[in-house]
Amino acid sequence: MGERKILEVMQGRTVNPPPIWIMRQAGRYLPEYRATRANAKNFLDFCYTPELAVEATLQPIRRYGFDAAILFSDILVIPDALDRDVEFVQGEGPRMRPLAGDEIEKLDPSGVLDHLAPVFETVRRLRGELPEKTTLLGFCGAPWTVATYMIAGHGTPDQAPSRLMMYREPERLDRLVDVLAEASAQYLIAQIDAGADAVKIFDSWSGVLDEAAFERYAVTPVRKMIATIKRERPGTPVIAFPKGAGYQYRGYREKTGADMIALDWTVPLDVAAQMQKEGPVQGNLDPLRVVAGREAIREGVDRILDALSGGPFVFNLGHGITPQADPDDMAFLVDHVRGKA
Ligand code: CP3
Repeated sequence: MGERKILEVMQGRTVNPPPIWIMRQAGRYLPEYRATRANAKNFLDFCYTPELAVEATLQPIRRYGFDAAILFSDILVIPDALDRDVEFVQGEGPRMRPLAGDEIEKLDPSGVLDHLAPVFETVRRLRGELPEKTTLLGFCGAPWTVATYMIAGHGTPDQAPSRLMMYREPERLDRLVDVLAEASAQYLIAQIDAGADAVKIFDSWSGVLDEAAFERYAVTPVRKMIATIKRERPGTPVIAFPKGAGYQYRGYREKTGADMIALDWTVPLDVAAQMQKEGPVQGNLDPLRVVAGREAIREGVDRILDALSGGPFVFNLGHGITPQADPDDMAFLVDHVRGKA
């Protein structure tokens, strides 16, 4: 275990060159992913078929030798397990039955872990198949981000439906976020028991919250989840990603108890270096630099390494890689971070 570099970084050590993995590293930019995807009935079926999910998880490890594998699944398996009829429509993104305020009290989380049993089977098989040195990451969505999809029934540019519920019916939204926090913490604990070395909480929509709402819906539920994980499975590190949080990245580590903070690409590198004095950070190359090509990659990577490689740091993008990226340019990125190109 000592040689899993990302775990070392999460204990506060500086590793050089820094370990690297990429958000959405299993995905449509890889031809082998598109081929595997073609064998699944639909995206959720893909996530719930251990054979396919293991294969998709391993593909980027084989190709690039990343220091971490992230479980192949999605944050929206939790609403699916809460019977919201989640579907991924090709070219449109996720859809589900929108959750009205008066349905919230009727949500029943008792079947969530049973519904997600195939995910735990995937994690178990992965730990058996991955190289010893590769860190295995489990994950889930943060309660606020998952709630936004449940309330709107699909993705939106600004999460207006959820923000309106937040002002009009705050107690109802509290209850939804509480249910999600408890179910998601148990979901992460089950991933840890199946073999995940560390877990990551994705709060992709924390950036639309004002100060009071950030505290109530981004900080508080994530703090509760991390407290549950630390109580029940002490020693398992947690990564948190409050995407778009801007000034509210300030104090987020201390308030939530996260071990490592994932930075989006808008976080200035001097601010990132300041945050690194309080603990490990991960990030934060703009994913579109990978699409733009090698010049843009080299320049962005060099700036990040100059600012952050002197402390506990894991290289990553500031958000998921996009389908337009060229797999050979990703290889260049990895080599460049490792000082080989
Ligand atoms: O490789 C990995 O990172 C692991 C797998 C993973 C996926 N989604 C696979 C996926 C992870 C960690 C996620 C997280 C996720 N899912 C987030 C949080 C991170 C972020 O991107 O902000 C969110 C908000 C979702 C919800 C989601 N899933 C959306 C909005 C979409 C549609 C948009 C899109 O990119 O297609 C998905 C689909 C999805 N999840 C795909 C993959 C590989 C593409 C589906 C396909 O193959 O058709």
